[in-house]
Amino acid sequence: MDFFKPIVRTLHALDGEDAHIATLHLLKLGNVTGIGPSSDYNPPELSVTIPYEGGALEVGNCVGLAAGFDKNADVPLAMIRAGFGFVECGTVTPLPQAGNPRPRLFRLKEDEAVINRMGFNNKGLEVFSGHLSRYAGRPNHAVIGANIGANKDATDRMADYVTGLKTLWGLSSYFTVNISSPNTPGLRALQGRGHLDELLARIAETRHDLKSVTGTNYPIFLKIAPDLDEAEIVDTVESAIDHKLDGLIISNTTLERLDTLKSAHAGESGGLSGEPLFALSTQALRIAYGASAGKLMLIGAGGINSGERAYAKIRAGASLVQLYSALVYEGPGLIDRIKRDLVKWLRADGFTHISQAVGQG
Ligand SMILES: Cc1cc2nc3c(=O)[nH]c(=O)nc-3n(C[C@H](O)[C@H](O)[C@H](O)COP(=O)(O)O)c2cc1C
Repeated sequence: MDFFKPIVRTLHALDGEDAHIATLHLLKLGNVTGIGPSSDYNPPELSVTIPYEGGALEVGNCVGLAAGFDKNADVPLAMIRAGFGFVECGTVTPLPQAGNPRPRLFRLKEDEAVINRMGFNNKGLEVFSGHLSRYAGRPNHAVIGANIGANKDATDRMADYVTGLKTLWGLSSYFTVNISSPNTPGLRALQGRGHLDELLARIAETRHDLKSVTGTNYPIFLKIAPDLDEAEIVDTVESAIDHKLDGLIISNTTLERLDTLKSAHAGESGGLSGEPLFALSTQALRIAYGASAGKLMLIGAGGINSGERAYAKIRAGASLVQLYSALVYEGPGLIDRIKRDLVKWLRADGFTHISQAVGQG
């Protein structure tokens, strides 16, 4: 019996965004009362080490919470307690911004999918860094990353990523440079080779300076769209390697709409995530794995709703996975189910550790 399933059903009586706001309130309340989803199931088979220049980040288990759920870093520890091995907060932009008008978040129930056009609604770096600083003395394995973005009205969008790094250096376990949200007009243009090289050069320079001054370093990932073609993915991989990034997150939401979608909301504009994103994002992951020749750590996201699908991402080349949309339908009980099933799949294939299955096809 999954204790949280009835709560999930009740939340579905609300509009998508109201349900999300209510969930965050419940989780914050849980921080005080101690009531909330809780699991300390971290099977050793699923631990991951993320190497980076000057160190290594230890992740208790390879199943993470994708960006967008906790945009303002309100509840990362509650989500670690719920069983995730790592939690990615954000996307945060330097200045607070309201995002697009509501409604902007739609459940496509029949398709186990979500469409969102939130548009980077968030409270900005000042609030975000204040929240992260609370977790400075966090327990081991509480890996909390920051997904950084650019303000819609920024005159120099690349400078916004530099500001994000500088402000959150020392507060975040890792960084994700998000250039793949479809809901900030023009943002995805940063994925083009010329712009990307320039952006990643600025990131690398900032990282070098911060490392020299503080003596610390952190993994930096780039998050890409599943809508890039094969040549564009290969270009992105090369650029990421050239500029010494540590990995790629593949992928963000898609602008594609499959003919098979059944929900009345299928025509809403925005990024599609959840079940129908699985095949497209896994194909992009596979291409990136082939091109990266072991030089980048890959994090697979898109349509993970079971241990079997998490395992498929691992076999396609991911060392870690992230999910968001399936939580909307399954609730937090899903996190432990995925971990248990992953261990079963590993054992069935004769592996003793997840790293052995990475990229096995
Ligand atoms: C409501 C919603 C908001 C999101 N916001 C962000 C965001 O701010 N930054 C980001 O990098 N990804 C964002 N994403 C994308 C997710 O992090 C993830 O990459 C994508 O949804 C695919 O995973 P899933 O199919 O498990 O949801 C958002 C997704 C959803 C559903």
